Amino acid sequence: MKIIVDSKETINKLVSSMVSELVANKPDACLAFAAGETLKGVFAELSAEKAADFTGCEVFNICEYIGADEKSTCTYQLNSELYSKLGITKTHTPSELEPESYDEEIETHGGLDLVVLGIGLNGHIGFNEPATLFDTHTHVQQLTDSTKKMKAEHFGGIENVPDMGVTMGLKTICSAKNVILVAFGEEKAEIIHKLVYGKTTTYVPAAMLQMHMNMTLCLDKEAASKLD
Ligand code: GLP
Repeated sequence: MKIIVDSKETINKLVSSMVSELVANKPDACLAFAAGETLKGVFAELSAEKAADFTGCEVFNICEYIGADEKSTCTYQLNSELYSKLGITKTHTPSELEPESYDEEIETHGGLDLVVLGIGLNGHIGFNEPATLFDTHTHVQQLTDSTKKMKAEHFGGIENVPDMGVTMGLKTICSAKNVILVAFGEEKAEIIHKLVYGKTTTYVPAAMLQMHMNMTLCLDKEAASKLD
């Protein structure tokens, strides 16, 4: 695992240039981005720089809430903050009705070239919550209280956060050729320590990424503060 620690601003620029470089080399790349707060700066940077032509890319949403109002969905955020700005139209979202077909859809397009992730305070990636098995494909997932608490502000109160989501599985994510995980802030420091040094147990889903051959962890100083 490659670990990069720098200011939030520099990390946003760096991740943006890593994504653009991949697309410049492979204009029909298959990409996947996490929704949430962490990647907003990367999206802004990608949209401002427009350093590659993304119109040939296939983009797969990593996860989605089930039963959320339209403006609170991951799809809405990704469309408005990223896809619309880069002219990305070939987009895909997992369906709770037929989740397993999503992995086939990804395979049909040649597999994921790059997944850009955030991380939950309990170590979830996508909506793969603790106790998710390592060989899971896209599936419906019950959200934990920890995740619902994290997302309470986004939904205007914890009572409005959906109970369920649909997400790429750990196997789906780890099958990507390249993975970038971004984390900012002191509150993520403990889970980042577990990701890097902890046992690869199902209780820390992100620790599975220790075994990925092309995994880059991009942190600000606060998120990296428990690594030494
Ligand atoms: C959510 C999403 C993830 C996201 C993570 C971190 O539950 N399903 O894709 O990466 O939480 O969110 P944030 O970046 O807002 O801290």
